[in-house]
Amino acid sequence: MEALEEEEAALLSQLRGAVSECGQGHLLDFWPELEGPSQRRALAEALRGMLLLESGQALRDHCRRAMEAHRSQGEGAPLEPRRMEPLPGQFLGSASRSPPEELRAWQQEGLRQISQNKVGVLLLAGGQGTRLGVPYPKGMYDVGLPSCKTLYQIQAERIRRVEQLAGERFQTQCTVPWYIMTSEFTLGPTERFFQEHGYFHLDKTNVVMFEQRMLPVVGFDGKVILEEKGKVAMAPDGNGGLYRALMDHKILEDMERRGLQYIHVYCVDNILVKMADPVFVGFCISKGADCGAKVVEKAYPTEPVGVVCCVDGVYQVVEYSEIPLELAQRRNPDGRLTYSAGNICNHFFTVDFLRAVGEKFEPQLKPHLAIKKVPFVDKEGNLVKPLKPNGIKLEKFVFDVFQFSKNFVAFEVQREEEFSPLKNADTAEKDTPTTARRALLSQHYRWALKAGAVFVDSRGERIPEKQSFREDEEPPAVCEISPLVSYFGEGLEKYLKSKELQSPFLLDEIKAETLQQA
Ligand code: UTP
Repeated sequence: MEALEEEEAALLSQLRGAVSECGQGHLLDFWPELEGPSQRRALAEALRGMLLLESGQALRDHCRRAMEAHRSQGEGAPLEPRRMEPLPGQFLGSASRSPPEELRAWQQEGLRQISQNKVGVLLLAGGQGTRLGVPYPKGMYDVGLPSCKTLYQIQAERIRRVEQLAGERFQTQCTVPWYIMTSEFTLGPTERFFQEHGYFHLDKTNVVMFEQRMLPVVGFDGKVILEEKGKVAMAPDGNGGLYRALMDHKILEDMERRGLQYIHVYCVDNILVKMADPVFVGFCISKGADCGAKVVEKAYPTEPVGVVCCVDGVYQVVEYSEIPLELAQRRNPDGRLTYSAGNICNHFFTVDFLRAVGEKFEPQLKPHLAIKKVPFVDKEGNLVKPLKPNGIKLEKFVFDVFQFSKNFVAFEVQREEEFSPLKNADTAEKDTPTTARRALLSQHYRWALKAGAVFVDSRGERIPEKQSFREDEEPPAVCEISPLVSYFGEGLEKYLKSKELQSPFLLDEIKAETLQQA
């Protein structure tokens, strides 16, 4: 007993010295009140991890950087117009404007590389999803589709389908490994979810989950926030934490061992994401790119999306607030916005490029500031839920690596076909479960019409067709098509041509078989 107490006293004094040296002595204020050795051990481990991972100096720097970033917030003036240039046309492909024969050739090249097991996909799923506000990872969210599928299931099925398409085209058996970056918040539940669902019929050895690092959340006074008496507030280090995580967990070695050369990186919340999109992958490879970005055309000059362009001759994403208004409004002779390449966090990288970033460039990535409401314990030990933002998170962004690319390309896709992110709860107007569900069902309705289907209601009466409708409008009929049946609308005629489908209609593999036989 005595020995234990002595051990603990020694541990406390050691820790106190270390945290005080970094100006963070308050983190041990409630040590005597912690319940039992397990709580104390947990806090000690967290503090040690923080000091070890970040080292005393790095922790001091982190807190200082956080405070400085907060102080200078909003000071960023728009860039000088002469420093900016739009993306050069020869490095820009377009799903709607590139010639059809080029699109076909890129698709063929993408499928060929997939069929040779050279392409992997990497999901960024470490975010806390605070705006959506559910207590589980976003990938486990069901936006209310007729099939009740979650985002993870939809993505798993798209992988299976693209493997099948490439395999059939080139007569091979191929695999697209799925790397999933998680964080302390999402790893456990994501692993359990995949286990419970039998990895959605993917081979478990081809689903590789790894964890990104966490960083302490800092108050406006430069002090790390205590979330509970025995718990430091920590947050994932941003989706740009990817590059450190790849090195921490030897993921690049895993990719190289499998012979992968190209990686498609995407966000968990885009319900329309085309994983390992053969056209995009084939385009990037055909152009000899080491790094590529999918972009969507900006809807209007002041739309709050980052724009991919050149600054001082270097590719990067410029925040909408940094673009001078006159440039944001500038139009080409065809009427399109000159700075129109809206970033959607959907990227192509060669494995060699990822290695160069991990080994050489990562420390040059500048952290960005995020100000959040973070529950904390006040001096008296009361738990406070702040009404106003009080915590500074520093995050790196996945797209900040464009500057290191030797051959950067961008590929413009149509928003209604490829981008509908789930960010907010249904109380918001934009990027909600409702808008995500609608985007997917609208797309599938369009595919079904194109394949020659006719929709009828429950009384068998024909539902008038509509080829286009507003983003906030429900499609005239409800139609969901399993990714296992069609990845991008391909191959549907054989099931749907001249068929009368009663809304709501769900086309899964079994239904497809019956329809084909009918
Ligand atoms: P967002 O910036 O939209 O953040 O992430 P979020 O965590 O999903 O949601 P909020 O801001 O808390 O409401 C864009 C993508 O980057 C991933 C997310 O999982 C999502 O796929 N991400 C974000 C990470 O993988 N790690 C992070 O540290 C942050």
